[in-house]
Amino acid sequence: MTAALLRAQSTRFAGLDPLLPAAVEPPPGDLLTAALPDGERVSAVLTRTLIEPGTPQSLWSASEVFELHPLLGAADGGALDPLLRALPGRLTAAGTDTACVVTWPSRDAAAARALMTHGFIPLSVLAVRTTPPPPSDPVPGVVVRRATRADLDVLVESALAEVAYSAQVGGAIPRSDARAVKRAALRAHLTQGDPIWLAERDGVAVGHAEGWHTESRPGSWAETRVRHGRWGYVNCLSVLPHARHAGVGRALMDVAHADLSPRTVGSFLYYNPPNPLSPAFWARQGYRPLWTVWEVRPAAALR
Ligand SMILES: CC(C)(COP(=O)(O)OP(=O)(O)OC[C@H]1O[C@@H](n2cnc3c(N)ncnc32)[C@H](O)[C@@H]1OP(=O)(O)O)[C@@H](O)C(=O)NCCC(=O)NCCS
Repeated sequence: MTAALLRAQSTRFAGLDPLLPAAVEPPPGDLLTAALPDGERVSAVLTRTLIEPGTPQSLWSASEVFELHPLLGAADGGALDPLLRALPGRLTAAGTDTACVVTWPSRDAAAARALMTHGFIPLSVLAVRTTPPPPSDPVPGVVVRRATRADLDVLVESALAEVAYSAQVGGAIPRSDARAVKRAALRAHLTQGDPIWLAERDGVAVGHAEGWHTESRPGSWAETRVRHGRWGYVNCLSVLPHARHAGVGRALMDVAHADLSPRTVGSFLYYNPPNPLSPAFWARQGYRPLWTVWEVRPAAALR
């Protein structure tokens, strides 16, 4: 059944959004099946992942994550409903630091109704850059350069400002070890040569961006999200609160995109739809939603 559903799902995804990759086999987990009113059968695999404390992921994810990987074949996202109905009985989550997650094509509008009915919210979006804006004018007084290990202290402050803001309007979790986690992650990225761009205004640090390249190839994580090829990935963009809305973010991304784009098929990133700043910012930078990550936190709030 799985192979036929995968083929049909790939065909449907391609018709829904030409930038979606072919559907790939779900990871191992618990199998759920359901019958649709017309007799068609759909299925899903439920996985459970524990996020290690002290990892970068722990700053944007609940510690215990149940993820549903639906296989709807040719059916539209409304067919999620019978699978979501079966879900509460299959979750063993207890406590508040838990989540249930479904990642589904943003353009499948019928899925949104089914997910919202069961308590899911569209907490983040994976967006791809389809329409780069024309080059913008330089921002007076702002210089963007590649950061070095000597900049670690200001990078940590900038990264923590992003966590603090995104914890209000998105999925970030300001855990007690956030400073140490960010410091270790930034140091590791600098050491392995991933680009980090630092913005200075009149010589004072006011924000930063992080990114790297990722290859979508058979068996890779990226293959589940974007078509095969080499992609630029923007991991973090932050401008300190007092410096926002003055062109610093735009100046950072002008340089970041110029550095990331050679020999790539495109670039992608995640942002939080409830964030009042970033969706408008990223749309102006030429990004549009490809996948929506629907989430219930805690998992027991699923209905
Ligand atoms: C999102 C963020 C990085 C954008 O950086 P920024 O320096 O504030 O952005 P910019 O000043 O370059 O402005 C971006 C756009 O907003 C517009 N803008 C400018 N002033 C504005 C204002 N007062 N209100 C709303 N929009 C404004 C600009 O017109 C600009 O559009 P343009 O590029 O087409 O001219 C920054 O606001 C931030 O750090 N927010 C908190 C953390 C966060 O949300 N990070 C992103 C996570 S994905």
